[in-house]
Amino acid sequence: MRPALARVLGTDVSLLQSGMGGVAGAELACAVSDAGAAGCVGGYKLSGVALSAMLERLVAGTDRPVGVNLIPEVVGAEELDRQLDQVLDETPSRVYVSLFGMPESRVFERVRAAGRHLVVQVGTVADGVAAAEAGAIVVAQGVEAGGHLLGHSHRDELVAALRERLPEACLVAAGGIGSPDEARRAVAAGADGVLLGTAFVAVEESHAHPYFKQAVTRAHGTDTVITDVYHVGWPSRRHRVLATSVTATPEQPAKFIGRTVVGERSYLVPRFSAAVPTRTTTGRIEEMAMYCGLSCDAVTRERHAAEVVADFARVLPGADVVGSGKG
Ligand SMILES: Cc1cc2nc3c(=O)[nH]c(=O)nc-3n(C[C@H](O)[C@H](O)[C@H](O)COP(=O)(O)O)c2cc1C
Repeated sequence: MRPALARVLGTDVSLLQSGMGGVAGAELACAVSDAGAAGCVGGYKLSGVALSAMLERLVAGTDRPVGVNLIPEVVGAEELDRQLDQVLDETPSRVYVSLFGMPESRVFERVRAAGRHLVVQVGTVADGVAAAEAGAIVVAQGVEAGGHLLGHSHRDELVAALRERLPEACLVAAGGIGSPDEARRAVAAGADGVLLGTAFVAVEESHAHPYFKQAVTRAHGTDTVITDVYHVGWPSRRHRVLATSVTATPEQPAKFIGRTVVGERSYLVPRFSAAVPTRTTTGRIEEMAMYCGLSCDAVTRERHAAEVVADFARVLPGADVVGSGKG
């Protein structure tokens, strides 16, 4: 027998909300955690004063377990160290660290030594085994996922393969989960809990641009494509997005198509930017990177984060013991 995700993290529901750069601020993360699941802010490229401000809002906004997501391959090892310094220094131990992709091996030790839970999202069996052996909670991401893709496997195939190799590990399924029925399938494949991204893009508390939210609620999985066109700021990784005029005709000039504000600073948005359109973005929103998973099929209206958590709580393990421990 092994503990459910909720027991490990100290939450009520075995549900992780993905830390999504630009979309998941403290407002969303705290709402999800207050509803009994594990919220998470997207740290993305934030540093210094802007990162501190987000951490302050996060810690003040909930007294429940909550996370900070960082992306090793986007910022590089040195900047990741600086971001981690801030997270570990400026937040209490109930704040867990979530990483998209494998970090250098010393990062596992560093986070563990700080007494934090570490959640690592992977797309292959090899990475999942390595992350679990280093003590992390493993999120197995399938190609159904919205956003950048870490592998080529379907979600439940990856979950089942990892469960066979790791009968005792805490395993979380990600990709294409928009409904409680889909979550049930992932649990049946061997997951101890699920991680949702797209389903939380369209909630009231998300910072996604209203056009992006509405597009997600209207879209079907067939309206998404896997592409590499939104490469500026995050090169060389395929991503699943809503199809746009840019994904249809990538041979366009790399002009600026809008403006956005991050922290206190205003930036121009180039066509092909990997940054999502947020509440503060203006310009040609319809051409920007709107990451979206096959899960959008089940996301049909804007709701509050707590309603999403309540829906999934009906089918996900609480703080129990799950599985046979023998795969
Ligand atoms: C808009 C959006 C932004 C994302 N940004 C991040 C991110 O900053 N860090 C991260 O670890 N994963 C990010 N992801 C990927 C998720 O962690 C996860 O793999 C995916 O959302 C799961 O599939 P689903 O969208 O069908 O639920 C993002 C996903 C979306 C939809």
